[in-house]
Amino acid sequence: MGYKQADRERGVVIWFTGLSGSGKTTIAHEVEDALYRDGVPIEVLDGDVVRENLSKGLGFSKEDRDINIRRIAFVAHLLQRNGVFVITAAISPYRAIREEARAMIKDFVEVYADAPIEVCEQRDVKGLYAKARSGELKGFTGIDDPYEPPSNPEVVCRTAEETVEQSAAKVLDKLVELGYLVQD
Ligand SMILES: Nc1ncnc2c1ncn2[C@@H]1O[C@H](COP(=O)(O)OP(=O)(O)O)[C@@H](O)[C@H]1O
Ligand SMILES: [Mg+2]
Repeated sequence: MGYKQADRERGVVIWFTGLSGSGKTTIAHEVEDALYRDGVPIEVLDGDVVRENLSKGLGFSKEDRDINIRRIAFVAHLLQRNGVFVITAAISPYRAIREEARAMIKDFVEVYADAPIEVCEQRDVKGLYAKARSGELKGFTGIDDPYEPPSNPEVVCRTAEETVEQSAAKVLDKLVELGYLVQD
């Protein structure tokens, strides 16, 4: 069984938010693989990749974080309105900017990658928590910089309790429920 885009003209932005190491990139690629296999037009805007390219030179002050997220939202919207499924995977710590993106894009599905910070720190996929704890890295989200969890996300992936496959399935199920995808 596979997935089909419900309407070639109707794209959607699947907006991941969550702490570093919460699972955004991993689930994003799992969802991407499933849709790519089935021929759904799909693009991933990963926070780390965007910061190496579109947002190269930006830092981690609130101002720079906001600029980064607004750029991601802008590009995601351009693709989405041309019928593309877009997955964004950036921490996007501030609720107000995510709400701004939602208001602009409209076809917007927020996915909260929710894992306790202890678990994210234990995973320390990129070794950044260790650097933040030692003080080598300042302004790290969840340690000495804020993270505002979404108040009403469409999907919550509890990545400390679920497998990657289960988390990705939750996202795909929601896209079916909201009428962006049909199963065939
Ligand atoms: N259900 C799950 N969903 C996503 N990642 C998971 C899950 N369970 C365990 N993990 C692991 O957690 C880590 C998440 O890292 P990553 O996806 O890079 O996080 P982020 O992009 O949010 O910083 C990976 O090592 C991944 O294998
Ligand atoms: Mg990531």
